[in-house]
Amino acid sequence: MSLIKRALREVLTDEEMQKLVRSYDMIGDVLLVKLHPDLRKRKSEIGHALKKAFPHARVIAAVPLFGRTHDTFRTRDLDIIFGEERTETIHKESGCVFKVDIRNAFFSPRLAYERMRVARKVREGETVVNMFAGVGCFSIIIAKVQPNVRKIYSIDINPVAYHYMCENIRLNNVEDRVVPILGDARDVLKDIGEISRVLMPLPDKAHEFLADVVKLPDVNAIHYYDVAFSSVGRGAPDGVSDRVQDAVKCASGLMEAAGKVGGEERADRRKKGGYELFREPYKRAMSIIRAEDMSVSVCVEEMRVVRSVGPRKYHVVIDFRLKREGMIEGEGDEGDFA
Ligand SMILES: C[S@@+](CC[C@H](N)C(=O)[O-])C[C@H]1O[C@@H](n2cnc3c(N)ncnc32)[C@H](O)[C@@H]1O
Repeated sequence: MSLIKRALREVLTDEEMQKLVRSYDMIGDVLLVKLHPDLRKRKSEIGHALKKAFPHARVIAAVPLFGRTHDTFRTRDLDIIFGEERTETIHKESGCVFKVDIRNAFFSPRLAYERMRVARKVREGETVVNMFAGVGCFSIIIAKVQPNVRKIYSIDINPVAYHYMCENIRLNNVEDRVVPILGDARDVLKDIGEISRVLMPLPDKAHEFLADVVKLPDVNAIHYYDVAFSSVGRGAPDGVSDRVQDAVKCASGLMEAAGKVGGEERADRRKKGGYELFREPYKRAMSIIRAEDMSVSVCVEEMRVVRSVGPRKYHVVIDFRLKREGMIEGEGDEGDFA
């Protein structure tokens, strides 16, 4: 039984228990839960009971289960159901500290693995652009993991996110490498100059900006985020199902391991499921890239599910490497360029 369910079984009826969402986030000293609309009237008892189960939480906040996400800033309505009336906190991740305001700027601790995964790919001397930087987490982690990066231009359109990004850059002592920029990434991109790597962590809309990225003559690595729908998984909103993860591993080239576990036929079926999940995001990205530049060579370095965001709905990332005529050795990666 999940911690949330255990904490509330004495407080809620059986019918109400059915409406509980098991997953939660601990962001600094704020416990963030999702609340079904039918449980709103019980929010005070729920808040008190959760405080007993999570004694370190100074604030307990709830977002409505079917609530709307602000289209551009990616923020959500939020209700304090216990504790201090504040939404600012300090969160620690991968040796960095991030001051965040979970009501007014996007932040998710669920991206911790993804942020580190991308940071580890950055090489010495690269100029990186983080187009949708939020409070600056990807950019700051990159600066820490790869201290010899040339610069990381870190853009966000939300003034509150920009404010926290500036503060986080100072708090983590990376002012010499991370350049915060307030603005629309599409406009800013044109003025930066030579860029080697671009992060596009805005799954719902990254495709709208991909052509502008491909136009940049020196870009050789793109971390492209998109939304994917699966017919393979169980569709549990709180976690990517094992079957989907298996399929994705196969799609990422781990056929051998899957073969050992379940035999060739099963591995083949899983492989198809894995490719299925990425087919639409891959097709969409490739058609945009090709429409912009027919001559660029493109290679998929890695693709993975970042997280589950709804029944059979996932955020995925495809790491593209690009190679153009005239690029010097090492600028494009080795791989099967098409
Ligand atoms: C999913 S969040 C980014 C998460 C962030 N990379 C992190 O690790 O926490 C997307 C961000 O993109 C920003 N955004 C949306 N449209 C934008 C645009 N056209 N230009 C720049 N930033 C934009 C939003 O304000 C939001 O902070």
